[in-house]
Amino acid sequence: MFISFEGIEGSGKTTQVELLIGVLQAKGHECVATREPGATEIGLGIREILLDSAHSNMLPLTELLLYEADRAQHIHDVIKPALAAGKVVVSDRFSDATTVYQGYARGCDLGLIERIHQIVLSGLRPDLTLILDLPVETGLERAWQRIHSRSGDLPEDRFEKEALGFHERVRQGYLTLARNEPDRFRVIDASGNPQSAHKDIVKAVLHREGNEGR
Ligand code: TMP
Repeated sequence: MFISFEGIEGSGKTTQVELLIGVLQAKGHECVATREPGATEIGLGIREILLDSAHSNMLPLTELLLYEADRAQHIHDVIKPALAAGKVVVSDRFSDATTVYQGYARGCDLGLIERIHQIVLSGLRPDLTLILDLPVETGLERAWQRIHSRSGDLPEDRFEKEALGFHERVRQGYLTLARNEPDRFRVIDASGNPQSAHKDIVKAVLHREGNEGR
């Protein structure tokens, strides 16, 4: 099974991936927790380029192609081998992030993104995508707290520095995708405490697992 987590900045994906992996492992599943960008050695270099706020002049097309380059390597090195070995793959972001961030929010052509996805994904699609949804103001406040608490590391804040309108387009983009493909997406209320979002996530995953077993 392939599960992806999506959401705006500060939606709590990293915590929720960890909590879900704990539940799945306790049920006896072998799991791989992964993320985009940066799950491979090549991807880590790409992540650094993408998130460095010194690169404020990066073209939208450059940004789009770098995310896709990271993804091609990620699928080949991590996701496909894990799925072939029967493991559950839980990814902190996947291709929907590109559709929403580079497409809906940045304005890259959605048809172009779709065509690139046909090449890069060659049919690979998450079985379940969990969108952690909350107001952008709340998410950004949490994201900035996290960035400030990590003094010493290179700041990964190029996207957090985008205007509120950008993040609102990201949020609305995810909600649009969820409306268009209700079988794959579940929207989780992430505005409250992590435990209550976790409960809803486990319910959605067990429901999907039950349906797959039929
Ligand atoms: P993260 O904060 O979830 O680690 O993601 C890094 C940033 O990259 C985040 O601001 C969202 C952005 N992003 C895109 O713009 N497009 C993509 O395809 C992916 C995977 C992430």
